[in-house]
Amino acid sequence: MNTVMLKDVPKDRPTLSDIPTLRKRARQHIEAGAVTSGYAADRETVLKLLNEALAAELVCVLRYKRHYFMAAGTHAAPVAAEFLEHANEEMQHADSLAKRIVELRGEPNFSPDGLSARSHAEYVEGATLKDMIKEDLIAERIAIESYREMIGYLGEHDPTTRRLFKDILAAEEEHAEDLSSLLQGMA
Ligand SMILES: [Fe+2]
Ligand SMILES: [Fe+2]
Repeated sequence: MNTVMLKDVPKDRPTLSDIPTLRKRARQHIEAGAVTSGYAADRETVLKLLNEALAAELVCVLRYKRHYFMAAGTHAAPVAAEFLEHANEEMQHADSLAKRIVELRGEPNFSPDGLSARSHAEYVEGATLKDMIKEDLIAERIAIESYREMIGYLGEHDPTTRRLFKDILAAEEEHAEDLSSLLQGMA
């Protein structure tokens, strides 16, 4: 017999609200939209992280676009195609981050003023095709580190933002892998 006795339930285990309590809480502060009183994260900090990530994604879109249009030489066609694909995916990441910012009752910062200062990743043009791939790989590695840190910071306090960061992290890891194989192919 393997019944769990009530005394075996850890004391720090989160409690579940009954339906009337849940309904009552949802009716309060309805202007807060998706942000309910059960939102456990520090909203201001989460919004700041989301806006920094948004800036980084926008810088990555711009850098990949520049690289796409400047790619030239024998190796260029497949590399240029990869740059364009990444640019489009970074734009989707930017859109998802902006959407989440609005859900959390914040404002997405799309201002070009100070964009590169807000971004973790850098905008480096790169003189040769190889330089461009290298710079993109460095930017992806920065993105991977920062998303990993933000996921760790969020813990279980905001599962939706955490899932978004995890999905983007997986895409950045794929980008880094793509660039790394392109570099190896050129050696
Ligand atoms: Fe991205
Ligand atoms: Fe990326």
